[in-house]
Amino acid sequence: MGHKLLRLKKNDILRNMCSETSFLTDQLIQPIFVSEKSISKKVIPGIPDNYVLNLDNAITQIKSDLTSSCRNFILFLVPSDKKDFDFDLTFHKKVIATLKKNFKDEIFLWADVCLCSLTSHGHCCLFDKKNNIDINNTLSSLSQIAVTYADAGIDGISPSDMMDGRTAMIRKSLDENHHQYIPIMSYSSKFASNFYGPFRHAADSTPAFGNRKQYQLDYRNKNEALRASYRCSQEGADLLMVKPGQYSLDLIDPIKKKTGLMVGAYQVSGEYAGISLLAKENLLKFNDALSESWHVMKRAGAQFIISYGARKSKELGLNEK
Ligand code: PBG
Repeated sequence: MGHKLLRLKKNDILRNMCSETSFLTDQLIQPIFVSEKSISKKVIPGIPDNYVLNLDNAITQIKSDLTSSCRNFILFLVPSDKKDFDFDLTFHKKVIATLKKNFKDEIFLWADVCLCSLTSHGHCCLFDKKNNIDINNTLSSLSQIAVTYADAGIDGISPSDMMDGRTAMIRKSLDENHHQYIPIMSYSSKFASNFYGPFRHAADSTPAFGNRKQYQLDYRNKNEALRASYRCSQEGADLLMVKPGQYSLDLIDPIKKKTGLMVGAYQVSGEYAGISLLAKENLLKFNDALSESWHVMKRAGAQFIISYGARKSKELGLNEK
């Protein structure tokens, strides 16, 4: 009888044999920031090995990532002009078309679709004259952006704005424009979180007034978060996501059960920076802690993980492809 757990812990071989979670590197998605400003490489505070790049550097970065078996990316585009109501998206189209022309199907390229880096006020929506969310204009702008990205050759669309109805409207617009096979990976349960700090620095998307609590979820609420993902599943999302990932572990399984869809976790910039800052202070080993954080999200049921360390998966000793 006794010591049943200890008997299966003798060495690596036995422990690996009994490991319940494992990874494919294609289940990790690497964010990539491309800016219109002619910067070369801008460091993002708190997120080592991640930069705001110009287009040439982005090509070099992806080439190097491919040698590390990292080939699934989510693109964040940072335009230099914020033109409000006049989203011509020349820069966006150029980046997407150039990356897909260079790498073709060697990479899978998702694009974050949101208004926060396009509006001068930095919010994820447009407002009407009374300062209420102008939902109709917001949804049509988001759909227009999604179709433009699809026309330019994007592989997948990832709406992150949290507006009701956006998944349905984007799906409809993509379908009407012959993009019926482009999947939507929806940021479906996304909280108004304190942990997006380094990202907002990189994407130049800090709101000029107020905060995002008018549209992002309240972290006190579980049922509301379930409803949000359910909403996106009903509106036609192909993949769902919780964000911030490490702080939303409790939601992953319930969302899967409620919707029958796969659910990913976005390990956001502040969560990732937390690990990197602890490592900087020599309070833990970065790669080991990162590996643990990913396995925990997997253990909680995450199908895929968006992480600023995706390009390190080989270094961490995870499975190939
Ligand atoms: C844009 C967007 C944000 C993140 C991803 N897409 C910022 C926000 O909603 O404020 C955060 C990602 C991160 O912190 O790593 N809406």
